[in-house]
Amino acid sequence: MLDDIFFQFCPHEILAIIPFALIHKEDIDKIFEAARVEEVVADYVTLKKRGANLIGCCPFHNEKTPSFYVSPAKGIYKCFGCGKGGHAINFIMEHDKLTYPDALRYLAKKYNIEITEEEQTPEQVQHQNDRESLLVVSSFAQKHFSENLYNTDEGKSIGLGYFKERGLREDIIQKFQLGYSINQRTAFTDIAIATGYKTEYLVKSGLTIEYKNEPETISEESDTEVKPIESKYVDRFWGRVMFPIHNQSGRVIAFGGRTLRTDKKTSKYVNSPETDIYHKSDVLYGLYHSKNAIQKEKFCFLVEGYMDVIAMHQAGVENVVASSGTALTAGQIKLVQRFTNDIIISYDGDQAGINAALKGIDLLLEEGMNVKVLLFPDGDDPDSYSKKVGTQELKDFIVNNAQNFISYKANILTKGTNNDPLKKAEAIKKIVESIALIPDAIYRSVYVKECARIMDVDEQILLSELNKIRNKNFNEKRNQPFQQNETTSIEELVIEEKKENATADAEHQERDIIRLLINYGDKLLSIDSENEAGESMNIDVTLAYLLTHELKQDNIVIENLLYNRIYNEFVEHLEKDSVPDTNYFISHENAAICSLTIDLISSPYTLSNWEQHGIYINREEDMLKKSLYNAIYALKSRKLEMMIHDIQKRLKENPDEEELMTLMQTQNQLNMAKIEFNALLGRIVVK
Ligand code: CTP
Ligand code: MN
Repeated sequence: MLDDIFFQFCPHEILAIIPFALIHKEDIDKIFEAARVEEVVADYVTLKKRGANLIGCCPFHNEKTPSFYVSPAKGIYKCFGCGKGGHAINFIMEHDKLTYPDALRYLAKKYNIEITEEEQTPEQVQHQNDRESLLVVSSFAQKHFSENLYNTDEGKSIGLGYFKERGLREDIIQKFQLGYSINQRTAFTDIAIATGYKTEYLVKSGLTIEYKNEPETISEESDTEVKPIESKYVDRFWGRVMFPIHNQSGRVIAFGGRTLRTDKKTSKYVNSPETDIYHKSDVLYGLYHSKNAIQKEKFCFLVEGYMDVIAMHQAGVENVVASSGTALTAGQIKLVQRFTNDIIISYDGDQAGINAALKGIDLLLEEGMNVKVLLFPDGDDPDSYSKKVGTQELKDFIVNNAQNFISYKANILTKGTNNDPLKKAEAIKKIVESIALIPDAIYRSVYVKECARIMDVDEQILLSELNKIRNKNFNEKRNQPFQQNETTSIEELVIEEKKENATADAEHQERDIIRLLINYGDKLLSIDSENEAGESMNIDVTLAYLLTHELKQDNIVIENLLYNRIYNEFVEHLEKDSVPDTNYFISHENAAICSLTIDLISSPYTLSNWEQHGIYINREEDMLKKSLYNAIYALKSRKLEMMIHDIQKRLKENPDEEELMTLMQTQNQLNMAKIEFNALLGRIVVK
């Protein structure tokens, strides 16, 4: 759940990762003040006035009828089509794919605000400089390899010849900045040194290999064919076509080089090693070029190789990435999740490809992604198939032929087993193991049904197997020694288990409480009170005060982790006699809180149907006290329901006489309380 909210407005998560440190808080405040959301958005979207708001076509998804709202008064935008929303800074982050500090810098420039970037320690400066130097060296290398491809005889005939033979168009070769490394051991390093690049950075970037002692000690990844050489510094890549790997802002951070020789001695690909700027497990090849398309198409296509990505682009399908050379990692999945939760994977049909697919499926499921698998007809891969059909045909093929992971696994695991019942049982178990990894209970149950149908087994049996596996996984996780960064996931696990055991949780009611707090927490309400002399009198208190006071009286705890955090912030502020307002939460440093706020202040009461329900908004403000008590009673009543449910469960477990009596008594009391509450509630729709 937390993750859902977290990723809803994808770039927010950057907020959590990138420290605020560099730009001064006062400058950030100035930027927030100056950057009017309607002005910032208007640089990109044509907006029309509509009442107090502006409306236009959403820049984040394809639409013909506008559903993208900007509220100058609230300082936010919100698309009712795709759900994206945020403040001016979010908009720039989302639209230009910028990090938080970069978006701030951009807006500072736009509004002529001078920003002071905080002093960095010498170590930080050094590290920054090191990284920058590596980026500069990599960029130089990319230009050098492209230059070879177009302006040297060898590059033209061998490198360019090869790309042409594989059917690549000129514009695609340039888009992906492909290149060629000359077939000599020191061609690149020599030029780089002559141009003034320090060997330290050439080596650190992995482009140059330094011989320490004997030539034999040279890294395994380089071509090992030993030729007599004098130099201490040699190239990692030579005689290969070059695929630069880009980071998310499009800068080159590494390379893959493919040999053009067909003999088995040299490995087909040589890749850059891990460096300060290249962490393989957090990079997806092609993501820089595909992120816009992924967002537009609402799914991501994951393939195996560099060539597959490039060929698909050429064929007009741009929402493609490759994990290239490493098994898929959780870090790579997180990158995709910033844009979509739907993924279609297509790996080779050979055993290695199948194994990679099976592992990938499980990891993707575990990360909460919806996974489908695409198989190409006999022997084709994305690269070859994309050359046989037109763009639309290719797109249709992908969408129509992607199968869910259950039928994929079922086919793979029962292939050639001749309906052997034991093999079938094994296959079913393996499928259920995958289903057990899915974090969301509803999705799990849908897939259990699907599995029951495909494998023709009883759903109940699958469910009991599923529960067994989940209990086992749960216990294993719990028994693992605590690691610091694992605490939350274990907490979440516990909470999730608790949720599953109850008929329902109080999330909906808790959300309404938080909605009221964020929207109206600082509004004053007048209540009856007694002074010291016992005379009744009217006093004004804030809604936040009244609400927290009421919940405290009945020891009500907000259980949802995120809501709880927000609630506690109110409690802490109130202790210091202040009340945070909506703006405080809109620009909150916690990404999840920030996006939840946007959602809550653009809820049906306040933002959607602004026109039609204009009167209604006023009414909620006018009747704030009523709304507040409705929400409080709804929450209390739901908590009672949960307690009653709990007792009913314990009653079913054959308690002894004495316990039975107490349980019955408590149940009666709770039921009475519930009736009382419901009477107070009047007519309230409790979801
Ligand atoms: N790979 C690698 N090292 C190898 C072989 C493969 O790093 N020795 C990685 C590369 O990223 C490659 C991907 O695995 O792109 C898929 O491998 P493969 O299918 O063999 O290569 P293709 O990209 O399909 O190359 P081609 O079509 O030119 O054969
Ligand atoms: Mn290939």
